[in-house]
Amino acid sequence: MIISASTDYRLAAKRRLPPFLFHYADGGSYAEHTLRRNVDDLADIALRQRVLTDASNLSLDTELFGERLSMPVALAPVGLAGMYARRGEVQAARAATRKGIPFTLSTVSVCPIAEVTSAIDRPMWFQLYVLKDRGFMQHVLERAKAAGVKTLVFTVDMPTPGARYRDAHSGMSGRYAAERRMLQAITHPFWSWDVGIHGRPHDLGNISDYRGQATGLEDYIGWLAKNFDPAVAWRDLEWIREFWDGTIVIKGILDPDDARDAVRFGADGIVVSNHGGRQLDGVLSTARALPVIADAVGRDLTILADSGVRNGLDVVRMIALGADAVLLGRAWVFALAAAGEAGVTHLLELIEKEMRVAMTLTGKHYIAEIGPDSLASAVKALQD
Ligand code: GLV
Repeated sequence: MIISASTDYRLAAKRRLPPFLFHYADGGSYAEHTLRRNVDDLADIALRQRVLTDASNLSLDTELFGERLSMPVALAPVGLAGMYARRGEVQAARAATRKGIPFTLSTVSVCPIAEVTSAIDRPMWFQLYVLKDRGFMQHVLERAKAAGVKTLVFTVDMPTPGARYRDAHSGMSGRYAAERRMLQAITHPFWSWDVGIHGRPHDLGNISDYRGQATGLEDYIGWLAKNFDPAVAWRDLEWIREFWDGTIVIKGILDPDDARDAVRFGADGIVVSNHGGRQLDGVLSTARALPVIADAVGRDLTILADSGVRNGLDVVRMIALGADAVLLGRAWVFALAAAGEAGVTHLLELIEKEMRVAMTLTGKHYIAEIGPDSLASAVKALQD
């Protein structure tokens, strides 16, 4: 029985997954303060209840970068999703597409670009980091373009990976990691059967495609660590422009000055994000960073937000704080791990229902009507 999609799917995923995979998705960096703040600060945002507003014609329809969405939600890029369920990126992309929202494929996905796009009939979004190997970047951008991708989500908050101590404890990295992962797989038979046996190849699909040889999970951490480019700066994004004439969304903005730089660069959108509390622990939660950024650039580009969104009420809260739409990360990965495509579909249905209740009881009929006056904090401001 599902009581709350986020907590129940998380617990179901925890039971099903080898611990190294559960903790990789669940964890954050250092002491995980920002990870907790993301959730707690968002939950603390009180909505402003309104009644008797005739919500018979509620619409969650949203337009984003020229695309129609059935609700203001997209699936965030998450690395290794194909290790969470058999060909996981394909399953999640199908669920998103059937629901009428975009799926974003991570650079470090298990399934390569073409495997995912050939399974869906709506353009997906593609995520890229700035990597030292510019040949690889050019290669995947060409592949993405050929597969009909129009929206590039460019992650800029990972010039170097944050320290994820949980990974060393869980067997994702550290001493005897391979042996520990093997032992965990053997003791999680459902996962072994679904992903271990039927989910092969366990590859970083886009990277293997470029190298012309298999790039296995054991290379994941090593490849990331070697390839992130600490020298990355705004000039590198100019380089991207030469290879990408589609929509560019810059992901990982947490400061209004950086948001203004994104406007100067000519980005179509930004994702206000602290990478789900996985990079610099101790930074502001997205819920606290977002309103200032929305004030600074909300009229100049599209604002997406992530980090801490676990349900439909959180989506409404983020929009009230200034986002045009949100990205879901952990929530879909846990639903995928627990119940595959059906789990992601169910999660998205629950999110839609929760949004409908929130809109009905805040007196909002359209997404564009949700704003600062949907928050209880507006009441005093209105009286002043
Ligand atoms: C990669 O982007 C990660 O957060 O692990």
